[in-house]
Amino acid sequence: MKDLSKPVYPGALVYGEEETQSVAEVIENQSPFRYYGPNLQGKASAFEKEATELFGVKHALAVSSGTAALMVSLRALGVGPGDEVIIPSVTFIACAGSVVSCNAVPIFCDVDESLNMDPEALERCITPRTKVIMVVHLQGSSADMTRIMAIAKRYKLKVIEDSAQSFGAKYKGKYVGTMGDIGTFSLQINKTITAGEGGLVITNDENLYKRAIMAHDQGNIRDASGHVVVDPTCPGFYGENYRMSDLTGAVALMQIRKITDIVNKMRINARKIIDGLNEIPNLYWRKDYDEEGSSYVSLAIYLPTAEDAIQAQKECKERKVSGARLYQGLPTYAYPFVLNKLTVHPSGCPFTCPHYKGKPEYHMGMCPTAEDLIGRALFIQVSPLLTDEDIDYMVTNLKAILRKFV
Ligand SMILES: Cc1ncc(COP(=O)(O)O)c(C=O)c1O
Repeated sequence: MKDLSKPVYPGALVYGEEETQSVAEVIENQSPFRYYGPNLQGKASAFEKEATELFGVKHALAVSSGTAALMVSLRALGVGPGDEVIIPSVTFIACAGSVVSCNAVPIFCDVDESLNMDPEALERCITPRTKVIMVVHLQGSSADMTRIMAIAKRYKLKVIEDSAQSFGAKYKGKYVGTMGDIGTFSLQINKTITAGEGGLVITNDENLYKRAIMAHDQGNIRDASGHVVVDPTCPGFYGENYRMSDLTGAVALMQIRKITDIVNKMRINARKIIDGLNEIPNLYWRKDYDEEGSSYVSLAIYLPTAEDAIQAQKECKERKVSGARLYQGLPTYAYPFVLNKLTVHPSGCPFTCPHYKGKPEYHMGMCPTAEDLIGRALFIQVSPLLTDEDIDYMVTNLKAILRKFV
């Protein structure tokens, strides 16, 4: 039997001749930079065009990573010293890190049973300093966007939808990433489609798009030939380099063409696993705000205690089936450097910044639901490549493990 406890890399495992050919075209034409070269292949821009078509949005910008996508989005929205950005307490560290890198302060919001931002907790996190709500759609399942968007509207706050883990997932018929002001994605290898590294920003807002372009390309604007132009009517601002190379674009373009197929297969396989495991009565599943739309990167079941989840993880490994804790069962703020507000520079900015008038206290216990649920959640990764035989094996073994705990 295969080892089904190994991590799943949905996009990378369906690499084929298309990706090889696409990269070869860039190499043969000696044009790896996306804006100009001896014989530009336009892969990154084709990837952007196909992203706008897939998501039905006006603008898409390819960038170098999901973290870059967050940085560029925060910059586009004007986040800086004195500002707070609300993020969920169960997410990847890049959410907090990108905010701090913009000299703003992350405020950790508790989650609900979906393990995504809890709208009620969100409202309690809002202060006069709040500039942006950064929603995360964890592991293919959407946050409660109807309520979150209503709160954002009431308080006139901007919304970034970090969809790094949920490429192709939907909420009530809409792709995640298309409901807020700006959506971000990652193409790192663990994600549903991948170019090894890479990222994407999408928006319908012309001004945010222009600012995102400048933020990702040293503040530059370029003419049709891809060369930088100095436009006296456009003052611009200092930026960084978060550009995608055309080599990465070559892979990203082939992968975005596969997203619908990959996600459909993950949905079918997830449904089979759910139905199989539901032979055990009263399993406590992670809440899903859209069971049809979820891309089911993984399924999560809450066990009675964190110790149970640790034991179940061990048994899953022994039986060679998927079942693991995410983020070592801890909320994002459990990192010592987060709790102690340790920044790269000894000044401690943004926490000590004179522009910042808040005094956030980060301590264990501050988001009790997050600490409880992420501790005892067992995540079962769903590969698009599972056969019916694999699924039978997984269900039989997972049932044997789970029965001991529920
Ligand atoms: C929720 C979330 N946001 C942002 C990122 C950052 O993406 P990248 O690793 O491409 O920088 C990740 C990556 O794991 C993520 O899971």
